[in-house]
Amino acid sequence: MDFNQLLEKRRSVRDFMDKKVPLELIKEIISDSIKAPNASHRQPWSFIIVNNRDMMKRISDASKKTLIEGIEKDPNSPMKGYAAVLKDANFNVFYNAPCMVGIVGKIKAATIAYDCALLACYFMLSAASKGLGTCWVAQGAEARDPELLKEIGLPEDHKIHAPIILGYPKSIPPMPERKEPVILKIIS
Ligand SMILES: Cc1cc2nc3c(=O)[nH]c(=O)nc-3n(C[C@H](O)[C@H](O)[C@H](O)COP(=O)(O)O)c2cc1C
Repeated sequence: MDFNQLLEKRRSVRDFMDKKVPLELIKEIISDSIKAPNASHRQPWSFIIVNNRDMMKRISDASKKTLIEGIEKDPNSPMKGYAAVLKDANFNVFYNAPCMVGIVGKIKAATIAYDCALLACYFMLSAASKGLGTCWVAQGAEARDPELLKEIGLPEDHKIHAPIILGYPKSIPPMPERKEPVILKIIS
């Protein structure tokens, strides 16, 4: 697969086969992802691998609870449009994927969001090159139940900056159309 094919193949996948991802393969993808650029080469990330559908459902339910509470408190919430789907007991924010890898870092650390986002990009491209599907699911990083967060091994001063679901895709959707890039100015 050349680079352009890889860019086409890396799509946000939301429909997965009922097939576990071997732990060794997940670790290989993580090893690829840490080659991402990162500020001052601090490599400030760590990982939580949830390769268990029951735990993913618990994290999904806890995240949905936070999101629904936020929508109910703030009538102007940007998440308002998602209220109905979030209240649907059958909706799993992780789309019933078999695995979620949380890209984790301190809550307050310089450049952490950039570093984790770049790492996530490498992670998703590596997974696509190995025939796996991914999707960054921001909705899945909203769990606030301290007991649950402790159970998944998240230190108190850390958060999941990028929750990436991973699995064997049932199908890979076509690339959603891109807007023309806006080049504000060319100075040559
Ligand atoms: C920061 C970020 C947060 C995202 N959160 C969600 C999410 O919560 N749920 C979801 O289904 N997709 C989520 N996505 C996936 C985007 O919807 C997707 O990347 C976009 O529609 C473009 O599709 P493509 O990834 O196939 O190119 C997120 C993507 C990014 C980068």
